[in-house]
Parts: sequence; C-alpha cells; structure tokens
Amino acid sequence: MGLMDGHALIERNATLLLVGSLLIVTIGGIVEIAPLFYLDNTIEKVEGMRPYSPLELAGRNVYVREGCYLCHSQMIRPFRDEVERYGHYSLAAESMYDHPFQWGSKRTGPDLARVGDRYSNEWHVQHLADPRSVVPESVMPSYAFLKDSPIEVKDFSTHLVANARVGVPYSDDMIASANADLRAQADPAADTSGVEARYLKAKLGDFDGNPQQVTEMDALVAYLQMLGTLVDFKNYDEAAGYR
Ligand code: HEC
Repeated sequence: MGLMDGHALIERNATLLLVGSLLIVTIGGIVEIAPLFYLDNTIEKVEGMRPYSPLELAGRNVYVREGCYLCHSQMIRPFRDEVERYGHYSLAAESMYDHPFQWGSKRTGPDLARVGDRYSNEWHVQHLADPRSVVPESVMPSYAFLKDSPIEVKDFSTHLVANARVGVPYSDDMIASANADLRAQADPAADTSGVEARYLKAKLGDFDGNPQQVTEMDALVAYLQMLGTLVDFKNYDEAAGYR
C-alpha cells in the first residue's frame, strides 16, 4: 500500500481521522510539556536579582493593595519605542520573585518597571500625596493617607515566610531579622550593615520625610526606588554581546 493510499483511507474514515489527529496532537503536547517537568528552572539567571528587602516587600504589599497595577504596568516590551522611553526591555528574571507578578495589562500611567532612581524621594512623596501639584494634567488619585499609616510590624517575618513557601530564597537569617531590617532601612540613625549585607543595593534612609515613624509611604517609596535598579545592564548586554 503506497503512502497516498493510506492517506485516502484516513480521509474517508472519519473515526480513523479523529483517532489519528488525537494521537498526533497528544504526541505534540507531550513533546512540548514533558521537558518542563524535568527542568528546575525555566528562567535564565541574571546577576543582581535578589529577594525584596522587608521594607520593599511592605511597599509592594501597599502597591498591590491600592491597585496601582490597574493603571501601571511593570513590563517593558522589546520594542524600540518602549526601550527608548523606559530603558532596557524587561527580563523574565526581573519578576522571578514577584508573587503575584505586577506586569499589568493597562497603562493609564507610564510603565514603572524601571522608575527607581529616576526621581528623588521628595518628588515621589509629593507626587503620591498630590499628583496634580507636580503633574497638573495627571489623573492619578491621591495617596496622601499613606504618610499617616504606620506600618504594623508585629511580626513581618510571616510575609517573608509566605514568600519562601512559594520559592523565594529567603534565608533563615533574613526571616529572623525581618522586623529589624524593615526598621533599619527606613531609619537614617540605625546601624544598616545587616540590611545592606542581606539585600544588596538596598536604598537606605528616611523616605517619607518623617523620621519619627515607619509609614506605608516610606515602604512604597522604597519599593518604587528599587524598581529596575538591581540588574546592571551594562554588564548584562556586554556579556550577551548586545553592545
Ligand atoms: C487611575 C490611574 C492611576 C492609578 C490608580 C495610579 N496611577 Fe500612578 N500615574 C497615573 C498617571 C496618569 C500618571 C502620569 C501623570 C503623573 O505623573 O501623575 C502616573 C504617574 C505615576 C508615577 C510617575 C511615573 C513616571 O515615570 O513619571 C509614579 C511613580 C506612579 N504613578 C506611581 C503610582 C503608584 C505607586 C500608585 C498606587 C499607589 C499609582 N501610581 C496609582 C495614573 C494612575
């Protein structure tokens, strides 16, 4: 029986065609999916990425709670206009410690994936408290109340433990020091050697202009200021041969 004869048989017999199609689709599916079960990680490792410091994580919690993702994305697509406006396109590794990720699907405001270091802390506080005082045409809501909301740090380590359970590599040391690190990062008078050693490139200081207490504004600004600052793209692009 020639090849074409076999084909004619399949085309004339609906049941055979169905069984054959299912067989082929199943093989294709297994070939695509099975390797994923044997790989430890499908994300390329990138130098510089580390888990969020407790203060940044607290700020990220505020970001999620307030729904900032409804108006802001955190994912720079690999297109020329995006890269020229926002910086290097986002790498998968840059959101590998995000639970849940904040890629977003709407940009009423600009992408925030690399907003860190772009403005001063004072600018952020002023902008979050009263967006129209710095950008008159802004439609962003005011979040002034964050300045008056102290962070409840009865036991912030539970937030790190929750993230560790879903795979974020928080060490026992990081978990044990969570409360102290959270306070130290936002306190200009504190000994910050511990938090600096545990969280490379962590921004330090009083973020909200009120050194009396650690507020949700401190945390949110600390989080915004670190966004996109961990990976040194000069090294990355040279190593990858892009530049
Ligand atoms: C209703 C939509 C909306 C929401 C919700 C919103 N924003 Fe915005 N945001 C905007 C718009 C529009 C702009 C651009 C105008 C401006 O700078 O105010 C902006 C600008 C910004 C900028 C400046 C970005 C840049 O590159 O210039 C930051 C930072 C920012 N928002 C942070 C936040 C944070 C943090 C939250 C949540 C607490 C938030 N936004 C919630 C609409 C929104």
